[in-house]
Amino acid sequence: MKLKKIYICSNCGSKYSKWQGQCIQCGKWNTLIEDVIKEDSKTSKKKSLIELSSSILNLKDISTQNLERISTDIGEFDRVLSGGVVKGQTILIGGIPGIGKSTLILQVANSLSSKNIRVLYISAEESQEQLFERAKRLEIKSENIYIASFTDLGDIIKAVDELKPDVLIIDSIQMITHPESGGITSGPANIKATTEDLVRIAKLKNIIIFIVGQVTKEGDFAGPKLLEHLVDTVLYFENEREGIYRVLRTFKNRFGNVDEVGIFEMKEKGLVSSSDFSIISDEMVPGKTYSSVYEGTRAIIVSVEALVNRSFYPYPKRVFSFIDPTYSQILLASIEKNTPIKFDTYDVYVNIRSQFKTKDKGIDLAVCAAIIGSAKGIVFDNRTAFIGEVSMLGEVYPPAFLSKRISEIERKGFKRVYIPNTKEKIETSLDIVRIKNIDDFYTRIVKK
Ligand code: TYD
Ligand code: MG
Repeated sequence: MKLKKIYICSNCGSKYSKWQGQCIQCGKWNTLIEDVIKEDSKTSKKKSLIELSSSILNLKDISTQNLERISTDIGEFDRVLSGGVVKGQTILIGGIPGIGKSTLILQVANSLSSKNIRVLYISAEESQEQLFERAKRLEIKSENIYIASFTDLGDIIKAVDELKPDVLIIDSIQMITHPESGGITSGPANIKATTEDLVRIAKLKNIIIFIVGQVTKEGDFAGPKLLEHLVDTVLYFENEREGIYRVLRTFKNRFGNVDEVGIFEMKEKGLVSSSDFSIISDEMVPGKTYSSVYEGTRAIIVSVEALVNRSFYPYPKRVFSFIDPTYSQILLASIEKNTPIKFDTYDVYVNIRSQFKTKDKGIDLAVCAAIIGSAKGIVFDNRTAFIGEVSMLGEVYPPAFLSKRISEIERKGFKRVYIPNTKEKIETSLDIVRIKNIDDFYTRIVKK
């Protein structure tokens, strides 16, 4: 078998015979990676027109029966899947090594198999013994889970034909070789071809396929973007491996919502759903505030910490974690412009104690309150929260789902909430303080 050298874009999968700086398909720079494929490989046989016409259906004849969701009975996993899995769905689960992908997927396998669903687990990274050890730890006793450690896609397809599973797990995609690659490479061309075939199998045989993908610390694996286009659903474990929490976020879902977050705790016996997650402590110090972020379809209470301290550096430090640093700089400028506080000789550190990165601007007012609180030594009450988007010009606007955020704050036992000066009628027993702009806010919290 002759192999041919090609260059493949790790972002969009376009193939080139020569290296070039920019991919002309997707416009990204320096994304071309050297790879090999089998010479004169014919990956897809063209179907005849007659064959194709048989798969054309009238819209009214298509039933939604196939879209029946199967719950995994793991609350937070169901949440990121908008309720459960659908037959024929391919789901990519990415994350850094050790974050808990194999643990979670084995728990999912266990849960589904207890519903008389047959699961074939391809453990290409770990031996069957290693997997057995994990299963023992997780106390999995199902008779409906079959394990194989194949790495060749051909073997996997044969096993699927023989066993006829309802669920196929590929752990991980990087370890599987496509026959077209000649068994030589695990580069992007190979991963793309393998995933394309897996997606085809899922659709043809109505099998649910979970594809585990390793992601490096820098955030990429050999072409994560390539796979995102191919699969139905993309879930990534977000955070670092620190602490006990693990956050899984939906980046794409053809069968449901995106941006849902699932929060789990890593325990002795695997990942446990943390469905009522919030970080509320009783101790209050200057620079600490509470807010509610809205992720996917739920409000989550988070805590903001800010430290404004005299700087010893020629350029004062600005460190923002778990929030957008550029917008946080704008908030600082806005505070400086609209209040007497000056940051020119002060370092500013802001952290969101949420375990996950948020793009939600509904916490802007809580960030401003924490910064002003630290600068002026104000201790807020631990039953007070702040919700509102703050514009560059210092105006305070209502974020999406304001009333749902307020309900969650109330449910968690808060007594007072600062919100924008909106006309929206809000049903709550909370003490509501309406804020027009940062100037007004400063006057109320500092000079009261
Ligand atoms: P693993 O699921 O193998 O991660 P991945 O497949 O993403 O590489 O392992 C996750 C980590 O969790 C591992 O370091 C061991 C730990 N762990 C627990 O704390 N409790 C458990 O019940 C299990 C199975 C693993
Ligand atoms: Mg693993």
